[in-house]
Amino acid sequence: MLLPEKGKLGVAKRKFSILFVCLGNICRSPIAEGVFRHLVSGRGLEDKFEVDSCGTGHWHEGQPPHQDSRKVAKKNGISLEGQIARQVTDEDFEQFDLLVAMDTSNLNDLKRMRGESKASIICLREYDHEEKDLDVPDPYYGGPKGFDNVFNIINRCCVQLLDELEETIKR
Ligand code: 4NP
Repeated sequence: MLLPEKGKLGVAKRKFSILFVCLGNICRSPIAEGVFRHLVSGRGLEDKFEVDSCGTGHWHEGQPPHQDSRKVAKKNGISLEGQIARQVTDEDFEQFDLLVAMDTSNLNDLKRMRGESKASIICLREYDHEEKDLDVPDPYYGGPKGFDNVFNIINRCCVQLLDELEETIKR
């Protein structure tokens, strides 16, 4: 799979940086950022990971996460406090070790936008061991089962992703 090469992390003493990306950066990727941060801190790995999120689109720049994202996160003991929507930049493709798209449309947009950069870009649901669908459904337009479903998908995938990354950074 598509995680960065071992050597890249082995030599580096710096943190492994991960950027979660959706379309608007107000519904799905803020949840992913919050969940991943929560897992990282629960495992005492704050000095090992840098976590951020953004959107491929600019429409919601400067806004806090959607109230239903905040609500579902809070219900699950996770704060999205302090998060502000922003659009992906050219620098992100150079600076982050891994960009994690919420769906295949985000993935394709990012691959188009990355130009010559060698950035590692994957779909979060490549880490879904329960279902085959590669897309975290977009809850903005009232997706099938809404924000609870989105939270559950993101949560289980982030656990798997962190499991694998933890192994990778140990090497
Ligand atoms: P997100 O959801 O990509 O999960 O943040 C969306 C938010 C806003 C829009 C679409 C999706 N929009 O079209 O404004």
